[in-house]
Amino acid sequence: MLAASFRDCKAWEVEGLPLTTTSNEACKLYDAILKQYVTWRNDEVLGGIEGCMTAVQAADPNFVMGHVISTGLQLVGTGSSVLQDEKLASAVRRTVELASSQDLTPRERMHVKAVELFSRGALGKACDVWEDILVEHPTDMLALKFSHDGFFYLGEQIQMRDSVARVLPYWKPHMPLYSYLKGMYSFGLLETRFYDQAEKLAKEGLALTPEDGWCTHAVAHVHEMKAEVEKGLKFMASTEKDWTVCDMLACHNYWHWALYHIEKGEYEAALKIYDEQVSRRCLKSGAMLDTVDACSMLYRLEMEGVSVKDRYRELLQVTEPHSEDHTLLFNDLHFLMVSLGCKDTGTTQRLLESLRELAKEPGENHQFQIAETIGLPMCQALVEYDQGNYSKTVELLKPLRYHFTEIGGSDAQRDVFSQLIIHAALKSEDKYHQRFARCLLVERDAARPNSPLTDRLIQRAHSLHI
Ligand SMILES: [Fe+2]
Repeated sequence: MLAASFRDCKAWEVEGLPLTTTSNEACKLYDAILKQYVTWRNDEVLGGIEGCMTAVQAADPNFVMGHVISTGLQLVGTGSSVLQDEKLASAVRRTVELASSQDLTPRERMHVKAVELFSRGALGKACDVWEDILVEHPTDMLALKFSHDGFFYLGEQIQMRDSVARVLPYWKPHMPLYSYLKGMYSFGLLETRFYDQAEKLAKEGLALTPEDGWCTHAVAHVHEMKAEVEKGLKFMASTEKDWTVCDMLACHNYWHWALYHIEKGEYEAALKIYDEQVSRRCLKSGAMLDTVDACSMLYRLEMEGVSVKDRYRELLQVTEPHSEDHTLLFNDLHFLMVSLGCKDTGTTQRLLESLRELAKEPGENHQFQIAETIGLPMCQALVEYDQGNYSKTVELLKPLRYHFTEIGGSDAQRDVFSQLIIHAALKSEDKYHQRFARCLLVERDAARPNSPLTDRLIQRAHSLHI
């Protein structure tokens, strides 16, 4: 039995967000899925998101917004694409068909349109539709969260911040999920470098809801971006019991925790978090967020000269089946780290060749559109680095480094590529590249002072007489 706090048909109508179904059970299940999505937490009592998706379907098979939230969440997961996954493609078709045969509200119709655009890879256009919904319905949390995630994947940091800023005044503290807006806004603020404001907002959110893992995550980012390593370590340890309940975000928060250790050069501590948390959770969930974190961590450690032994091989089991998904270039680049780390030429080639094919005729798919100019050269840079062609790596990345944001993700996640160009420039035989490495390090130190990792790299540059 669903808790009385979940909104039924009447409650949604009262909020100005009516749902086209006569089933109160379906309305409450929609709310239950929404809550789990926003809180990053599968509620076992409810059967988790999966269980609720099955239940909403049973409660009213024709409930369009039930299909929208279920299909939209699969797309947001980025673990499958309509090109590879016929089940997902047919779920999108079913949603559109149902919508065309029903007398829906304009808001619901727009949700269907956005999911359809998203499924075709036209994520920017999908975000436009979600934002149009929010103009009329600023308390539509589903539109806001999809838009938030959409902008994140597009690397549109300012839009991600302003999208939340625009709706905030329309929300009142008594509304369900209100406190979670603070974490979302905080994330937009920190990705646009308003670190102090971001920290304040996140702390307010945590005061209201200590188990809001996205707020914890925002604070973790602030400490990461300001190289406040000790503060970060202390914060993660002191809040661990609160955010580990967020099963969909815990792995990522552990990844942030491990980054502080890598920053300090405490590689054993970082590997311990990798083995006990990141890898274990990634292998269990297979979720893309967990997977890219695991890939990135091993790659960062290897750049630091740490042997990660057979860990790449274990991770390949998760990444290899996704070699031809191409939902995000960001994911592709991380999968490539693993196939290169395993010296699995076949998988590397399969990923690159299938991406090259899609880049030839991108259509309206945004990822394929930027594959030729950004995705493929970045992939090639990883391949060249692996082969010891360091000057080639620099030549490929140098013109792109101010465009890395376009592959999506956070500043902290994309830092792996900024580190890569520095390592490549340091190792290049070309004297110009070596001097360029020094420039990059000075620039890095200026933007993010007191970073032990930057200091180590500066030391290395000195020892190489650069
Ligand atoms: Fe993060």
